[in-house]
Formats: sequence, C-alpha cells, structure tokens
Amino acid sequence: MSNRLELQEITRTFHDGGNERTILDRLNLEVDEGEFVAVMGPSGSGKSTFLSIAGALLEPTSGRVLLDGASIIGKEKQELSELRLRKIGFIFQSANLIPYLKVEEQLMLVAKLAGMEKAKAGKRAKELLDKMELAHRRTAYPDTLSGGERQRVAIARAFMNDPAVLFADEPTASLDAARGLDVVQMIRKQVREQRKSAVMVTHDDRVLSLCDRVLWLENGKLVER
Ligand SMILES: Nc1ncnc2c1ncn2[C@@H]1O[C@H](COP(=O)(O)OP(=O)(O)OP(=O)(O)O)[C@@H](O)[C@H]1O
Ligand SMILES: [Mg+2]
Repeated sequence: MSNRLELQEITRTFHDGGNERTILDRLNLEVDEGEFVAVMGPSGSGKSTFLSIAGALLEPTSGRVLLDGASIIGKEKQELSELRLRKIGFIFQSANLIPYLKVEEQLMLVAKLAGMEKAKAGKRAKELLDKMELAHRRTAYPDTLSGGERQRVAIARAFMNDPAVLFADEPTASLDAARGLDVVQMIRKQVREQRKSAVMVTHDDRVLSLCDRVLWLENGKLVER
C-alpha cells in the first residue's frame, strides 16, 4: 500500500456565537509511505484543526480520513485511542506534558499503554532522551523545564512507540535554530529509513528543504504554490 494517509473532502465548521464558520472546506490530502509533508499558512487558517483531524484527535464535520486504507471516522473511543497509541505520534503546538510525571515517566507511560515490554521501553526512552540532549533532565518535572526542553520531551514521547505516522504542529517553534534543524532532520531520517510518514505544520522556512512537499492552507484547502 502506498497511501499511508488519505484525507477526503474534509470539512470542519465551528460555531462561534451565533455564526457558523467553515475552517476546512472539502480539503484533500494524500501522504505516501516514506513521505514528509510540510504545511504552512497564516495564523488562524486552520492548520492545527487540520492536523487534529488527520491525527484522529478531532472529528471532521464531514469527509473521510483513511489510515493505511482503513477509515478512522466513527470508531469507538477505545479503538481510537489504541490506534493513536500504536500508529500515530503527535507533537502538539504546546508540549502538553503531564504535570505530575517526570521526564522519563512521560515516555514510559505511552510505552506502557501500548503494551511495550518495560526493559525495551526503558532502553528506548534512554536513547531518545540522549538524542534530545535531555539525559540530565530525566527526573525533572515539566514545570521545572524550559520551553525548549519541554518541547524536546514531547518530541521524544511522540517517537517512543515508533509510530507509522507522525504529526507535528510547529515542533521547532520554541527551539533554537540548531536544535530546530536537528529535530526536523530526525523526523526526516525516520521517514526515509523506516518508511514512515510525517506531516508537519511550520512557519520555519529553514526546514522546508528537508521536506518532500510543501503545501499551503488557503481558504480551507491545501494547495501547492
Ligand atoms: N474548538 C473551537 N471552537 C471554535 N473555534 C475554533 C475552535 N478551534 C479552532 N477554532 C477557530 O478556527 C480557526 C483556525 O484555528 P487553528 O487553531 O486551526 O488555526 P492555526 O492555523 O493552527 O493558527 P496558528 O498558526 O495561530 O496556530 C481559528 O479562527 C480558531 O479560532
Ligand atoms: Mg495552530
């Protein structure tokens, strides 16, 4: 199968006071195995909304989302969270760490929920934290981390279960230039070598050359420029 992820005619409206606003308007997207797609667009254009729908965190008003050929719309909550744990990695615009867990525990929790063996999970957590230059912060709580450190924990956590598809919402926003580039290079490496797929929302021109395709969210649709 070559199309890992497919969005078909996705529409999403929000009620805002008495008004109905259409944020996504029959949006289509196909992402292949081994493909890394960047999405750009002005603030408020619907990038996070699009990414949440693609990553099974938000239901569209209409349209279909297919992951490895199977529809993820209308699944039971339980089934959806299993799917997210096993197949999807999500890096949020804000790091979204769990306040009462230490750095290492953030990674171990998602591994445990996905049923990974503890020794294997511990080894993988250590490797990822090393890669993110976070080894020295292993036992720190999120509120004692800098913004960039928090974001790096979130990135390590998203890689923890070796997801087939990675969604990243401005993953480099709170990182310095060198670290930002490192992170995107890491995503690219995973995508290429392990035949993963990734969709990244970004405002950062410097990382676009690492992506296979750049799309713009305009008037509720994804377009090439
Ligand atoms: N739950 C919601 N209820 C009502 N309106 C919403 C909701 N979520 C998003 N919106 C609106 O939809 C529009 C798109 O929001 P979204 O967060 O997708 O934009 P974005 O492109 O990610 O912006 P940014 O670059 O600032 O992160 C915004 O006007 C926002 O206010
Ligand atoms: Mg956003």
